[in-house]
Amino acid sequence: TEGMNAQDLGKILHREPTEIVKKLFMLGIMTNQNQSLEDDTIELLATDYGIEAQKVVPEDIGDLDKYFELSDNNQKDLKKRPPVVTIMGHVDHGKTTLLDRLRHTHVTEGEAGGITQHIGAYQVDIEGRLITFLDTPGHEAFTEMRARGADVTDIIILVVAADDGVMPQTIEAINHAKAANVPVIVAVNKIDKPGANPNHVMEQLSEYELIPEDWGGNTIFVNISAKTGQNIDEVLEMVNLQADILELKADPDRLAVGTVIEAKLDKGRGPVATLIVQEGTLHIGDPLVVGNTFGRVRSMTNDRGRRVKLATPSTPVEITGLNSVPDSADKFVVFEDEKTSRQVGEERAKRAELNDRQKAHRVTIDNLFDSM
Ligand code: GTP
Ligand code: MG
Repeated sequence: TEGMNAQDLGKILHREPTEIVKKLFMLGIMTNQNQSLEDDTIELLATDYGIEAQKVVPEDIGDLDKYFELSDNNQKDLKKRPPVVTIMGHVDHGKTTLLDRLRHTHVTEGEAGGITQHIGAYQVDIEGRLITFLDTPGHEAFTEMRARGADVTDIIILVVAADDGVMPQTIEAINHAKAANVPVIVAVNKIDKPGANPNHVMEQLSEYELIPEDWGGNTIFVNISAKTGQNIDEVLEMVNLQADILELKADPDRLAVGTVIEAKLDKGRGPVATLIVQEGTLHIGDPLVVGNTFGRVRSMTNDRGRRVKLATPSTPVEITGLNSVPDSADKFVVFEDEKTSRQVGEERAKRAELNDRQKAHRVTIDNLFDSM
């Protein structure tokens, strides 16, 4: 009924538009034939004519969440998928060292040889079992994703330096994990150091409900040295154990949906986005909407910088072929046909632009007042 005026109503009700205007006047509403009417007015008028008006809610084609659907874990035909792991912890406690260690121990020489493209996410293969690690820069990215309902993390590895103990960002990470309901594996790091006191870390963390199994709790603790490589394989084993408990599954046979890890504008290739596929399989040529932009997957690169043709659940890939650069934590949805994808994408782009303009407008007015 949006935008309907007396003329339109006249047609529907088989009455002269002048009669409609007159009738409305009698009902206390001043209007002319061309003025669009409120829903309430139309309802009132229709009732007066003895007709029940039905509000037509325009379909919200720009609502991407409507198309973003994850499989119900009880669904059959689901297949096991690799866990997506985020490493968190206080500054300097050894997150990057651990990540490097995990990667280099388990990426074969040939693959690790060249300078691998940094795509903010990568996979390791432990005897045929893949684990995806997200290299999220700091906690903000994690918070942002969770705030926008796009949390892709299945497991958190909490790194705590044994010589330093629990620190502010350690607590922050624990709170993130709790709020997101993500299980934590504690990696007590730097046990090679003379001042290392892993027991003290256990005591401290017990106060935050992270109680080691040895003490009757259910949190996995591993004492490691990211520097020497001690017990690194045990961390990976524990990740796989935890993944088994979680029974992580997805449907690889549907249209892909997932989340943007990071995105940028590349001089030569245009907008590039690192996506993590959460459901379905992403193919070259797929029409997709990503946040407020859209396009077709023109090329896909894996975490080793190799060209790939498809990406299955929990796989990170870098894609090109989008019209503009999306934001991290944006969701993506693949559509059956390019037409729908374009419709949804254009609607979203339009809205985003309107939003930006309104924002800019507000800023201008604020500035105006500020300068007065
Ligand atoms: P931010 O990214 O700044 O938050 O730090 P981070 O947590 O990534 O720490 P990073 O891996 O950069 O390590 C900080 C310092 O600790 C570096 O000098 C590492 O060499 C050192 N380090 C990391 N792990 C170990 C370890 O197991 N033993 C010892 N002795 N030093 C370590
Ligand atoms: Mg680091």
